[in-house]
Amino acid sequence: SESVRIALLGCGVVGGAVARRLTQAKDEFEARVGRRLEIVGVAVRDTSKDRSDTGLDASLFTTDAEELVTRADLVIELMGGIDPSKSLLQKAIESGASVVTANKALLGQHGAELYELAEEHGADLYYEAAVAGAIPLIRPLRESLAGDSVQRVMGIVNGTTNFILDKMDRTGADLADVLAEAQELGYAEADPTADVEGHDAQAKAAILASLAFHTRVRTSDVAVEGIMSVTADDIRAARRIGCVIKLLAIAELVDKDGGQAVSVRVHPTLITRSHPLGSVRDAFNAVFVETELAGELMFYGRGAGGDPTASAVLGDVVQAARHKVHGGRGPGESAYANLPIEGVGAA
Ligand code: NAP
Ligand code: HSE
Repeated sequence: SESVRIALLGCGVVGGAVARRLTQAKDEFEARVGRRLEIVGVAVRDTSKDRSDTGLDASLFTTDAEELVTRADLVIELMGGIDPSKSLLQKAIESGASVVTANKALLGQHGAELYELAEEHGADLYYEAAVAGAIPLIRPLRESLAGDSVQRVMGIVNGTTNFILDKMDRTGADLADVLAEAQELGYAEADPTADVEGHDAQAKAAILASLAFHTRVRTSDVAVEGIMSVTADDIRAARRIGCVIKLLAIAELVDKDGGQAVSVRVHPTLITRSHPLGSVRDAFNAVFVETELAGELMFYGRGAGGDPTASAVLGDVVQAARHKVHGGRGPGESAYANLPIEGVGAA
């Protein structure tokens, strides 16, 4: 076709930032892709909201996401949740579209089915923004480290909880006081219990472990404890011994029955202030990767918020659009190792 037709599902914190950038820097994106980019529609719940800051014509907004996905070459899913996101992405892939999503909740639970469907239909399924916001992490794990062997991934992958724990550490405030601020800044999930109870980090840990160890790890395989029980007293006690409490996602290879298994967990962890993860402030994320050949790698950057997350989404959009124009496909998702999983869902 004459243009790459783009459907945007969701125009909230992240979708709004993506829409704004796509309209402001349209010429730049088109030069990078080599073809005209046309936003053919934006699905939202409430079409009466003022979204003029996006620069998009009001006529593009619709509540009929099902119809919209059938008219696109590229679908960007930024609605969140499982239903109807899952069926919309399935429909998009089945109609020949490539898909970009930031939806870790969906991928942690149903990633395997979606990757298989994308494989079957020759579609790209990209999700750089689903883990650690702006930080390029999915591509390095999936592509740059494909010739190495990852031993362990350990990181701060939830911006809201890091913002809360950091603020509690610096001001002595209680968790409840700081959560509202994280919500106002656009870091928290629509239901912030997903952040504070660790479920957002749990889904991200599953995605990272799947890529790192070439084994399908689902959210339910990941043991989780959130930060709800962390008190201002706990934080003060940690401070007195030169430590800080961080919510860490840890995925590692462990020995089991003479072979190897994958262990994945999320929990508040006491670490020394001098540790690189101990100095991660605000809603920043940081992920350590230990591999056989490269040794230690550290990825650091903004883990949440509209513009930082839009950066990762738009990188995927350019890549998927280039494939639509020039041919080629993103790498598939391989789960060839299929190691046993040590965890809550393990047999
Ligand atoms: P948000 O601000 O709540 O925006 C959600 C958008 O989706 C809204 O525009 C909403 O419409 C629309 N929507 C929701 N359900 C819909 C439905 N059933 N049909 C049509 N439209 C629907 O959420 P967000 O923070 O941008 O997050 C979006 C996704 O990005 C989530 O998967 C989230 O986990 C992920 N993510 C977020 C961040 C972050 O920092 N916020 C970072 C990384 C990843 P209305 O505007 O009409 O309500
Ligand atoms: N709510 C998530 C966080 C958004 O705070 O990290 C980024 O995935």
